Amino acid sequence: MKLLNYAKEISNKYKISFRELELFLMYKLNTQRANIYINNLKKSLKEDIENFISLKKLAIPLQYITGTTEFMGIKLLTPKGIFIPRPETERLVEIALGLITKDSKVLEIGTGTGAISIAFAHFKNPTIEATDIYINAIKIAKINAHLNRIENIKFFHRDLFPSSTSTNKYDLIISNPPYIPNRELDNLMHAVALYEPYTALSGGKNGVEIINNIIKHGIKYLKEKGKILLEIDPANLPYIDPGNLHFKIIKDYNNLERYLIVNKNEDITV
Ligand SMILES: C[S@@+](CC[C@H](N)C(=O)[O-])C[C@H]1O[C@@H](n2cnc3c(N)ncnc32)[C@H](O)[C@@H]1O
Repeated sequence: MKLLNYAKEISNKYKISFRELELFLMYKLNTQRANIYINNLKKSLKEDIENFISLKKLAIPLQYITGTTEFMGIKLLTPKGIFIPRPETERLVEIALGLITKDSKVLEIGTGTGAISIAFAHFKNPTIEATDIYINAIKIAKINAHLNRIENIKFFHRDLFPSSTSTNKYDLIISNPPYIPNRELDNLMHAVALYEPYTALSGGKNGVEIINNIIKHGIKYLKEKGKILLEIDPANLPYIDPGNLHFKIIKDYNNLERYLIVNKNEDITV
């Protein structure tokens, strides 16, 4: 039987996304999409596909099944328990790249797989510090940096900011923080809540606890013209407290209010 026919049959029968099945086959056969279907269906591959179907029936994300993902064309390891980078965050990085130069000093809070900081290093190579409260995220982010031959990110296992006595100042503080309200998360019985880490998702009451903390305390770590750039959920907006600071909202490609830029001065040009 031709692999293409089998893949179509399986995708229809089990209501599994054909695109995901293709990505799984590309991973298993270690080849490009165009080369998948020159193959006939071999017994061992049929077994792999059957295992894949069992895992998808449990709603396990593809990235946890293959253990990898791509972010802005950069390959990253995504073992279970580490937040899977999302396409919206690629837009966050695009916006950020317009705000920094090679001479900028950047702090990323909550680096997860290291996706944002590794993309920065890859495209602009500023001075970068990347942090996470979760030690396993820091370990994986370091491995991902190494696999991508990125040497100059400093990783820190810590809660939000450097100590209050630190004199570090940044041109950009960036974060895709946990922003789902706890009450929503507790009722969220789908793949995200089942398989992704609670600390990466839970934004406390109304989803804004970490966002508001980053804004309130982050400002003292900014250089005079420095900016804080955050990914948010549009539902967070009424609860975000920018104090007296200037802020601007930018929409994502789905026209949703997704990114927040905060600074001390009025002039926010992006
Ligand atoms: C939504 S994930 C984003 C991961 C990654 N930056 C990305 O965009 O794919 C949020 C990350 O923030 C980390 N985190 C949660 N609370 C934190 C805190 N108080 N300080 C530092 N990191 C935190 C989580 O462990 C998780 O890795």
